[in-house]
Amino acid sequence: MAAVDALIRRRLASDVVLVNQVAEYIVGAGGKRLRPMLLLLAAGALGHRGPDAHQLAAVVEFIHTATLLHDDVVDESDLRRGRKTANAVWGNAASVLVGDFLYSRGFQLMVELDRMEVMKILADTTNQIAEGEVLQLLHVRNPDTDEAAYLRVIERKTAVLFAAATRLGALLSGADAATQQRLHDCGLNLGYAFQIADDVLDYASDAQTLGKNLGDDLAEGKATLPLIHAIAHSDDVTRARLRAAVEHGDTDAMPEVMAAIHATGGLEYSRKRAHDYANAAEAALDGLEENDYTAALRGLAHYAVSRDH
Ligand code: IPE
Ligand code: IPE
Ligand code: MG
Ligand code: MG
Repeated sequence: MAAVDALIRRRLASDVVLVNQVAEYIVGAGGKRLRPMLLLLAAGALGHRGPDAHQLAAVVEFIHTATLLHDDVVDESDLRRGRKTANAVWGNAASVLVGDFLYSRGFQLMVELDRMEVMKILADTTNQIAEGEVLQLLHVRNPDTDEAAYLRVIERKTAVLFAAATRLGALLSGADAATQQRLHDCGLNLGYAFQIADDVLDYASDAQTLGKNLGDDLAEGKATLPLIHAIAHSDDVTRARLRAAVEHGDTDAMPEVMAAIHATGGLEYSRKRAHDYANAAEAALDGLEENDYTAALRGLAHYAVSRDH
């Protein structure tokens, strides 16, 4: 991971000052580096280590970071990784454009490996992430968004990048198609678990710990799993009020929304669903040779749901 981080820093450079400033700002704020970690662990689990894995791990983190810059513009967020968002500091234009820089820099690094299968996976994945974010936009302020629709959104906006990370690790190791599929399934399920846990934290953490503001989802009119569960399981009067809160992105309704989520067990239900996905991520590894890397992948599946930031 130190090698990956050094590579990211080295390849961040541009002679355009604002690119350097914004890119250094978001990358330097840290982040958990979970996706590159997953790629290295998947490769290591199958016996592969080395510079190609480091390079692809950096690519995946570049793509992730680009989506964060864009996402914070779309979501009008002002806190990320414990700092003001880039859009809060430099405005939307700089964030979108530096997001494009990071995204295309990731593709420059990817092309250096000169492997068509790798390019296909990453081209498909980034395209799906874009679809996921747009699909989510279509559900904004829509109180009819149900669990199935929510899962379709999080698969594309989040889980596919986790799946690409673990699949690419397997691919680098020269694994056969079935093994690549297992690692893909591990990452995909881990990604679902991770995003559901993230959506729980938006209702259940504190901004200091999380490094992001709470209540952002409701403010955006985004119905995530805890609230979807509450809408489905409340009495008619409460349901009407929750639906109105989603329709208006009404943060004043937060106390009522929280009360309904608690009354219907929305957080417990969502945590349970996240655990189910984490277990599925682990199950996908069954049959592989057990080693320190597979153990770490199992550990990360549980970290994804037990984390507090
Ligand atoms: C944030 O991802 C976006 C989601 C998919 C919820 P992370 O929580 O992995 O972000 P960093 O990189 O650690 O800041
Ligand atoms: C995460 O989006 C997915 C992407 C960035 C593509 P969210 O909007 O759910 O995540 P946070 O809460 O801003 O990190
Ligand atoms: Mg967001
Ligand atoms: Mg978003």
